[in-house]
Amino acid sequence: MHLMKGRTIGFVPTMGALHEGHLSLIKRAKMENDITVASIFVNPAQFGPTEDLEKYPRDIENDTIKLRRHEIDILLLPDRNLMYTNGFSTYINVDPLSEKLCGMFRPGHFKGVATVVAKLLNIVSPTRAYFGQKDFQQTVIIKRMVKDLNLGVDIVVCPTIREHDGLAMSSRNSYLDGEQRKAAPVLYRCLNKASDAIKSGIINTEQIKELMTKALSDKALITQIDYASVYHPETLEEIKEIKGEVLIAAAVRIGDTRLIDNMPVNL
Ligand code: PAF
Repeated sequence: MHLMKGRTIGFVPTMGALHEGHLSLIKRAKMENDITVASIFVNPAQFGPTEDLEKYPRDIENDTIKLRRHEIDILLLPDRNLMYTNGFSTYINVDPLSEKLCGMFRPGHFKGVATVVAKLLNIVSPTRAYFGQKDFQQTVIIKRMVKDLNLGVDIVVCPTIREHDGLAMSSRNSYLDGEQRKAAPVLYRCLNKASDAIKSGIINTEQIKELMTKALSDKALITQIDYASVYHPETLEEIKEIKGEVLIAAAVRIGDTRLIDNMPVNL
């Protein structure tokens, strides 16, 4: 069905300001498919009214150079007014997954993500679509949507790419000033501490939560902890007692910048 004259299509949807994380998705898509398609679209539907839609980093010139260097076949640059025509009124809600974790702090965000991803998948009709594990909740929601709506595409989740000090790569890292950037790896260190503690036998979530909150509170520049705990990797419910596969995840604010990260742990 999703073959172009028998050829497979790998699709990497992005919002641009491409970094090594995005490029790792492109490399994987190229490796596994005959044709590679990328899209750049800063999707207004996934930004709340007080969020950073207008200031979200845009660098189409450099993005194009990077994509050319990686020899992708097709770059899709959808027009905002064509994606959301006058009277647009069909949205996709993946409940209750969209209400958990980041959904509690960004109401409507995942409705916007699911809607635009469904639209892009319909436009491109790929064999496989590639997403980064850094946005773990997004990947869970997209997998659920693809299954529920029989979208017939394989969702491939690729490892988080990190800076040398562990900070997960994100286009939003560019908002951080020098001091904030120095403080930001505390998030990764906190996940590592939690993971080590779980592996050493602590299976009570309350204890892990306490340890994470303490690790994050050590840094004065962390202005808010949105969440930091242990979750079921499919339902995204916070769990009480840790066994089998779990997800440690946290979201914090450094100044006005919201950073997220996660780490799956398998006991
Ligand atoms: O992860 C992102 O960059 C965006 O949420 C996506 C999947 C491109 C949808 O706009």
